[in-house]
Amino acid sequence: MSAPTANSIRSTPWPGTRSEEPANLSLEGQPVELPVIVGSEGEKAIDISRLRSGTGYITLDEGYVNTGSTTSGITFLNGEKGILRYRGYPIEDLAARCDFIEVAYLLIYGELPTKDELTTFRHSLSNHSMIHEDMRSFYSGFPRDAHPMAIVGSVVGALSTFYQDSLDVRDPKQVEVSVHRLLAKLPTIAAYSYKKSIGQPLIYPRNDRSYCENFLQMMFAVPCEEYEIDTDFAEALDMLLIVHADHEQNCSTSTVRMVGSSDANLFASISAGVSALWGPLHGGANQACVEMLEQIVADGGNVKKYVELAKKKDSGFRLMGFGHRVYKNYDPRATLIKASCDKLLAKIDRCDPLFDIAQQLEEVARGDDYFIERKLYPNVDFYSGIILEAMGFPTAMFTPIFVISRTSAIPLGSTNMPKSHWVSNYFENNLTRSLIR
Ligand code: CMC
Repeated sequence: MSAPTANSIRSTPWPGTRSEEPANLSLEGQPVELPVIVGSEGEKAIDISRLRSGTGYITLDEGYVNTGSTTSGITFLNGEKGILRYRGYPIEDLAARCDFIEVAYLLIYGELPTKDELTTFRHSLSNHSMIHEDMRSFYSGFPRDAHPMAIVGSVVGALSTFYQDSLDVRDPKQVEVSVHRLLAKLPTIAAYSYKKSIGQPLIYPRNDRSYCENFLQMMFAVPCEEYEIDTDFAEALDMLLIVHADHEQNCSTSTVRMVGSSDANLFASISAGVSALWGPLHGGANQACVEMLEQIVADGGNVKKYVELAKKKDSGFRLMGFGHRVYKNYDPRATLIKASCDKLLAKIDRCDPLFDIAQQLEEVARGDDYFIERKLYPNVDFYSGIILEAMGFPTAMFTPIFVISRTSAIPLGSTNMPKSHWVSNYFENNLTRSLIR
């Protein structure tokens, strides 16, 4: 490695304020000055973008634990304090006052919609909700027991073969059309994967239903009888979509950004994000968590036994739905979901053994030194699966629902493009021609 040659490493300007006080580093006896960027909430970052060209050194940060690879104006997250905001709005306020489509609009366009904008947006999503008839035949080719995530990833990637008129990432209009298409079609794509697995006819979307009602309809209706929408179910689903919609940089977001940085089209990049989300340490945790709770119930409900097991490193067992790379406090999304869980289970007058076990598990784990010392709290996936299960969703559908939600965070606009979301990473990197390698 070459010796450092510069004592002041300047970067290209970042959005955010540059601190008066730079960071000082010493490399091989030479002083190196690095700019410090201060974010909107006072958070600080050392800008190392010129480190390599100035000194020959690179940084090593396995798992990106200390690395922000970009800046973002969309989501603010403070894991120590348990804060989550989309575009400056606290997640609690959005969940209480907006529906998912309004939140999706906020994430995509940067502002909450006016009445007219919202009507137009809803209309566009309704109009794009069908998938091409030829795509339906794909579903006959997949094995009956295929995991819906495998189907969703494949079909999303295949959208690029059907919508070749909207693949130019440098044309904002085409990107916008693709974003609407994707958001509109995902519930259909996901619901079809479920219908396929149970051998029922695929149900077409309906434009007279809201986004979540339509998804419930496509999941649970059959052609031989009327399907009555339970508005409480639709509301609970809507809340789940809102709280899962965005979460700064994470495994699947980084994947989309990485793939998109090669100028791969939107659908290809999102398809890669679907695969990244599938893993049980990330989006697949909701399925893994419910399976773990079922296992504990089937094993007699001895919660303490499983807490002890999770503490033994050689057991290979972890409490799924516990712990988070960023949150070292109660995940604010888990608070909202738990409240919704209480409400929904009371409404359907259901004593859910999984919910009972989950609450006991939380109580025992949160009183245990191992979890306290490591700041391991229930995360978003701890209670979300219980709600979905109570609504009748099979566990394999939990992560596809996460996909629907996360895809909403697709900000448009060619300037000040945030980079912390599935498609925005892809989009901005294409605009700046910055290949990630
Ligand atoms: N059960 C038992 N021990 C745990 C757990 C858990 N769920 N999570 C972390 N630990 C321990 C871990 O063994 C380590 O202990 P030690 O310091 O003695 O080696 C310590 O806590 C720190 O763990 P880590 O794996 O270094 O922490 P991380 O920040 O890399 O991991 C995590 C975050 C989410 C991968 C991890 O907490 C985990 O595996 N949780 C279970 C899976 C899960 O619920 N994932 C969903 C995350 S939320 C959805 C999303 O946004 O992706």
